[in-house]
Amino acid sequence: MSLLHNLEAPVVGAPMAGGVSVPPLVAAVSEAGGLGMLPAGYRTPEQLAADLVDVQDLTDRPFGVNLFVPDRPRREEHEAAVAAYREALLPRAAALGVDPGTPSWGSTDHWEDKVALVETFAPAVVSCTFGVPDADAVARWRAAGSEVHVTVTSGAEALAAHAAGADVLILQGQEAGGHRGTHDASADPEVVYHLGLLEVVRAGPAGELPLVAAGGVTTSGDVRRALAAGAVAVQVGTALLLSAESGASPTYRRALRDPSLTERVTTRAFTGRVAGALRNAFVDELGGLAPSVFPVVGQVSGPVRRAAAAAGEVQWTHVWAGVGWRACQERPAAGIVRELTG
Ligand SMILES: Cc1cc2nc3c(=O)[nH]c(=O)nc-3n(C[C@H](O)[C@H](O)[C@H](O)COP(=O)(O)O)c2cc1C
Repeated sequence: MSLLHNLEAPVVGAPMAGGVSVPPLVAAVSEAGGLGMLPAGYRTPEQLAADLVDVQDLTDRPFGVNLFVPDRPRREEHEAAVAAYREALLPRAAALGVDPGTPSWGSTDHWEDKVALVETFAPAVVSCTFGVPDADAVARWRAAGSEVHVTVTSGAEALAAHAAGADVLILQGQEAGGHRGTHDASADPEVVYHLGLLEVVRAGPAGELPLVAAGGVTTSGDVRRALAAGAVAVQVGTALLLSAESGASPTYRRALRDPSLTERVTTRAFTGRVAGALRNAFVDELGGLAPSVFPVVGQVSGPVRRAAAAAGEVQWTHVWAGVGWRACQERPAAGIVRELTG
């Protein structure tokens, strides 16, 4: 049994790093009877600790924390391709009055410190994306009383996460907004929807675990179909982007409503990892150049994307979106969760 079996609303609020799933959104989803997830990605341990306290101040209900399992790209292998990507960004960076970022090759996004912080804090759930957490981390979190959830994007990844002792698998299909959680960042993610993944995973040994369906879930019909196909809950990101509590920036909110952004694609353009986003000039100009070197490519492009967002320029920032982005609603998250499960 997982705590997911006892949720009033079988909806996990996706952890959305980059300032989207801020504490008020996490708490609002849990208060609505779902499970709010706080993203640890890109936060310093100090910021994460403050976020954890903020969520606790806002709700007594269970919530979870999500960590990026670090990628460790080899500098000598990729340095030239990253330099060429940086070079290609220079004109746009100059136009926006910034320099592209400098790669930080050894960065693990403070993995060890976050593992320890989460162990001390012992949230109801610890979820991981981009890989399978090491056995030591899994054992420590479980000993502290947390359930361990792992995002997978293929049958093979499900088997690996099952073998590593995951309590729950999050099956992320190709419809998803934001980064694909594919364990090997340089591999092309399998082209499979969450319903297809449910079928594949349920047919194997990992099918004995509770499964969460993610990707493109924006209507109550989507939720019903996922539950009927064997999911215990759904994880929704895009559906919450325009909620009142979301931390999405004004430019991001406007981009999701911009009639000139008509196509949702998957691209490595922004960070080197495949991600679901609305097609814009950044995708068109950098998509073919971005090497599959996460998170380094994102460190290089970060100042450009942030400056564009600050300037209200939707063509030069990332507009993460799943296939259901047109159905985003501007209302309190509780209403969105209720409608999804109504
Ligand atoms: C803006 C944004 C940021 C995201 N950040 C994270 C993250 O930090 N960790 C994570 O596990 N998934 C992240 N995701 C992916 C979600 O967990 C989930 O798989 C996805 O939102 C599901 O597809 P949907 O957006 O169509 O609902 C993010 C998604 C979006 C849209």
